[in-house]
Amino acid sequence: MRRAGAIAAAARDLAGKLAVPGATTQAIDKEVEAFIRSQHAIPTCIGYCGYPAATCISVNEVVVHGIPGKRVIQDGDLVSIDLDVGFEGYIGDCAATFIAGKARCDEDVKLLSITRQAFYEGLKFARPGYRVSDISAAVQQFVEANGFSVIRDYVGHGIGVEMHEEPEVPNFGRPGHGARLVRGMTICIEPMVAAGDWPVRVLKDGWTAVTRDGSRAAHYENTVLITDGDPEILTVPEPEV
Ligand code: MF3
Ligand code: CO
Repeated sequence: MRRAGAIAAAARDLAGKLAVPGATTQAIDKEVEAFIRSQHAIPTCIGYCGYPAATCISVNEVVVHGIPGKRVIQDGDLVSIDLDVGFEGYIGDCAATFIAGKARCDEDVKLLSITRQAFYEGLKFARPGYRVSDISAAVQQFVEANGFSVIRDYVGHGIGVEMHEEPEVPNFGRPGHGARLVRGMTICIEPMVAAGDWPVRVLKDGWTAVTRDGSRAAHYENTVLITDGDPEILTVPEPEV
């Protein structure tokens, strides 16, 4: 899980560097896929329920599951990149939103930082003695206190030999419910946040999820190991040697 996570995190870093104005989402995807394969790892999104690419690249009002294609990234676009990597049978999953070029407005910068911080707010409860919805409630409270909304239609999840395992890890809910967290569990905590309201709809391609109100969205995700003490974020790049 650590090695899968390290490759996934390095792929996310690479994707962030490639998300510049003028790039097509497909070009980013292909380069990230080549990197994953160069690490003797598998881009497990390809073929998952028929999904056609290694990454999901979700721009602006696209919340998740944007399919890479001919779309050209524009200056100030919010580019969310989500990817899964399989290594020796285990999977790492992570996502982040990047601003291509120069930010369009202060709200975009705030949206990214609140989304990322919401992950860390949830992470505080990723330890034995808490239950899944303690994470959910912490994410929701933090996001809403900052004037944004959490997406309800997509959730975090357990992960291991499959991309999606039990339990579901929603980004909303009341504390004190759901599975009790114990050492050895691996879960994905992944706040998906809209600047406006949370309802989404899926485009005709069957994947692309956009906010119904057209507001911009951000996503931040890591694969996390529950330990007896502090949680360990598995999707961190290995230090360069
Ligand atoms: N990490 C994404 C998720 O958990 C990837 C899904 S698989 C894909 O939703 F097929 F949509 F890429
Ligand atoms: Co995930």
